[in-house]
Amino acid sequence: TGLSLWGGRFSGGPADALAELSRSTHFDWRLALHDIAGSRAHARVLHGAGLLADDDLTAMLDALARLAADVESGEFVPAPGDEDVHTALERGLIERAGPDVGGRLRAGRSRNDQVATLVRMYLREHARTVAGLVVDVVDALIAQAERHPSVAMPGRTHLQHAQPVLLAHHLLAHAWPLLRDVERLRDWDARAALSPYGSGALAGSSLGLDPEAVAADLGFDGSVENSIDGTAARDVVAEFAFATTMVAVDLSRIAEEVILWATKEFGFVTLDDSYSTGSSIMPQKKNPDVAELARGKAGRLVGNLTGLLTTLKGLPLAYNRDLQEDKEPVFDSIDTLEVLLPAFSGMVDTMVFDTGRLESLAPQGFSLATDIAEWLVRQGVPFRVAHEVAGECVRVCESRGIELWDLDDDDLAGISEHLTPAVRDVLSVEGSLASRDAKGGTAPRRVAEQLTRAVGRRDEA
Ligand code: ARG
Repeated sequence: TGLSLWGGRFSGGPADALAELSRSTHFDWRLALHDIAGSRAHARVLHGAGLLADDDLTAMLDALARLAADVESGEFVPAPGDEDVHTALERGLIERAGPDVGGRLRAGRSRNDQVATLVRMYLREHARTVAGLVVDVVDALIAQAERHPSVAMPGRTHLQHAQPVLLAHHLLAHAWPLLRDVERLRDWDARAALSPYGSGALAGSSLGLDPEAVAADLGFDGSVENSIDGTAARDVVAEFAFATTMVAVDLSRIAEEVILWATKEFGFVTLDDSYSTGSSIMPQKKNPDVAELARGKAGRLVGNLTGLLTTLKGLPLAYNRDLQEDKEPVFDSIDTLEVLLPAFSGMVDTMVFDTGRLESLAPQGFSLATDIAEWLVRQGVPFRVAHEVAGECVRVCESRGIELWDLDDDDLAGISEHLTPAVRDVLSVEGSLASRDAKGGTAPRRVAEQLTRAVGRRDEA
């Protein structure tokens, strides 16, 4: 068995079943180098408080450096008897510095403030990695929008044809939420930038240690205001879980559309072979597995967020061992996104749109009916009447199996006295798009402006 951190008041070691339950090294070992960084900073404040002699500090820092090298090389790994990453590294330190020097490091700190700090360090690093990978997806969407500045497509509500929109407008509608996700991770980072180190088990330290010095040493903006809060709070972890889950949910909405677009029935898009998979039995198959995995993994991240919030619900202050359950959900969300995002941006970047099909479907399903109604409004007709008249146009066309632009002058006059032949000017996709030219609309010049602003936001992200 390993070296326990709490043996003194116990007459025997833990039951095997407890040790098995308690052990967390299989998931918290990824915090090992952060733990050692924390130990270095802690050794310095112990020295600063006069609790560690010059020689002992030197010996301790030297042993920690050797330990870090052995962790990195894989030479030092947790033993079955090590309860957690902190226990294992204490053993490693004592093996290298001897019990006399190594045994001095734990003064004034607890695994409770340690682990709360290390998780923040780890999540802050990965927030940056994930944000960078999300920006790559935004880049791929922007590149597709730039490649198709004037291609129209059927815009949908309720998955039914609604009004024509520019393909670039639709693609950017997926880019904006992802840009907000990146900004959300950055905003989160500002709140995560406070170090709990120095909170001790819950009440702080009596040894004159300076939490601000440790915080600065570890790259934090400062230390927490309240030692109980510092050890017990996990809202920082939950907020990270939400921000990453939102990324996955936003990807899943793109994914669902890609899956539909790649069907024979839609035929909007062809996925590159390098981002498609085949079937083991059906030779003709080409499947959108990247998009399906994205859609599926979003469920997994929602589960991680939900599980974590459920763990936190109703927990009394301060530290409870339940809090050990905070790590696996967010580690899994990070691992999942860091594998998913590169594949996702590759898929988006390489997909090829059938622009002819998009253009020809854009005006179908009577998607220009709103343009008739709005044309009538510009002639002074109340919208309530205009809506009825345009609806009547659709009804007539539907019963005769024709399109709105097939209505001749007599048909129009028969439907309403307000419908003069000039209405045909708006019965084109081009006219419809160009008319929606307020800020945020789908008129080509507005979408071009929007694209410029999206690129600007991407550059700031
Ligand atoms: N491994 C624990 C965690 O991840 C930290 C150890 C705290 N243990 C304790 N008995 N106070 O939360």
